[in-house]
Amino acid sequence: MSIKLNDKYVSTFISSHEYTHIQSQINTAAKLLREKNGAGNDFLGWVNLPDNYGKEEFARIKVCAEKIRKSCDVLIVIGIGGSYLGARAVIEFLKSPLYNNLKKDTPDIYFAGNSISADALNEVIALCEGKDVCVNVISKSGTTTEPAVAFRVFRTLLENKYGKDGAKERIFVTTDKARGTLKQFSTDAGYETFVVPDDVGGRFSVLTAVGLLPIAVAGIDIDQLMAGAASASHTYVDADINKNACYRYAAIRNILYRKGKSIEVMASYEPFSAMFSEWWKQLYGESEGKDQKGIFPASVIFSTDLHSLGQFIQDGNRTIFETVIDVADTGASFEIPNDPANIDGLNFLSGMDLNEVKKKAMQGTILAHVDGGVPNIVIELNRRDAFVLGELIYFFELACAISGYLLGVNPFDQPGVESYKKNMFALLGKPGYEEMRQTLEERLKN
Ligand code: PA5
Repeated sequence: MSIKLNDKYVSTFISSHEYTHIQSQINTAAKLLREKNGAGNDFLGWVNLPDNYGKEEFARIKVCAEKIRKSCDVLIVIGIGGSYLGARAVIEFLKSPLYNNLKKDTPDIYFAGNSISADALNEVIALCEGKDVCVNVISKSGTTTEPAVAFRVFRTLLENKYGKDGAKERIFVTTDKARGTLKQFSTDAGYETFVVPDDVGGRFSVLTAVGLLPIAVAGIDIDQLMAGAASASHTYVDADINKNACYRYAAIRNILYRKGKSIEVMASYEPFSAMFSEWWKQLYGESEGKDQKGIFPASVIFSTDLHSLGQFIQDGNRTIFETVIDVADTGASFEIPNDPANIDGLNFLSGMDLNEVKKKAMQGTILAHVDGGVPNIVIELNRRDAFVLGELIYFFELACAISGYLLGVNPFDQPGVESYKKNMFALLGKPGYEEMRQTLEERLKN
């Protein structure tokens, strides 16, 4: 495995008997998952997905990605939540957060329909001016408001520019195989469609067409991504937390949670990891945060955030533990130049690689935070490529499911997401919500 769990920096917070005690609960959680009789068991398609994915559709994704690469300068990816974060996380992790500004032979990729911001929408529309554009709209339910609004806008934009028939060749839809307005609409319009499997929930769907089509358009090797995930799925099978790093991670976070550590901060020293942390936050937040329980997932990019949230982590309310993502070889290096005048007094760093400085900053920070009462879990990746990222994605998905079962919640539903939607629809005057609208408007008045 290219992933190593280093738990040395939690050793002063967790005694060995606590690992022994939690093992039986891990066994139960693992059994629920493997025998598919836990809560949400109709959403376990992701477990064997790295081996059991639809090969025909996978091949079609590659062909379609090539077609998109050839026919446009800009791909607009429309989706929200699980239909958005995975693709963006992988593209930014493996390419760059500045992917669109790089010199490249793949299209720019802009994400839309992930907010209700007029500014954001107008900006993406402006970026399409004078460019050849394709659209990949992604919505499992096919009814989510934010992407539906954006799709209406970009569909019209494409139809005005290329005509209905031309637009048809540039619109690609990823949705349920049979249900939802989007599926019906796509069939009627003749768009090429890809399927979100019934048994894979949004936040576990990055390795389906949901993530894979935009990722392939960005020129990332999706075979390697799947191979990495498959390797992880074959590795993390034994429930023994002395042998299974993934289950051990789930065990550690649960032990810490029971000691009052209710906030987990994912820390990375690489800006390319920021969107990966966003993906991870959705995965854990939506899976665990229910029934008035759960660990709140947060994230930082160091050393940037050592100059802001670092203060709180070191010295604030002691409810935090950190999970550090440490990429040993990112593929880049930078030697710090010498200055004969040494005006800035920095010549003690001359000739040193920036990676070495980063490593010392990380080691120093981990020790300081541990001294400040913040347990640190370190997840070490030996390199930055599609295979390793595939492993990491599967590692976190599996650990998330085990964590949810340890906590006694259904890790695969998201009932809380509905509350805001109902209120929003009522306040917007959606038919069927009349009574609720009146009640809410009264509350807003008083
Ligand atoms: O993880 C989830 O299930 C959610 O975040 C959904 O992905 C999100 O709400 C978008 O839903 P849909 O793909 O149906 O538009």
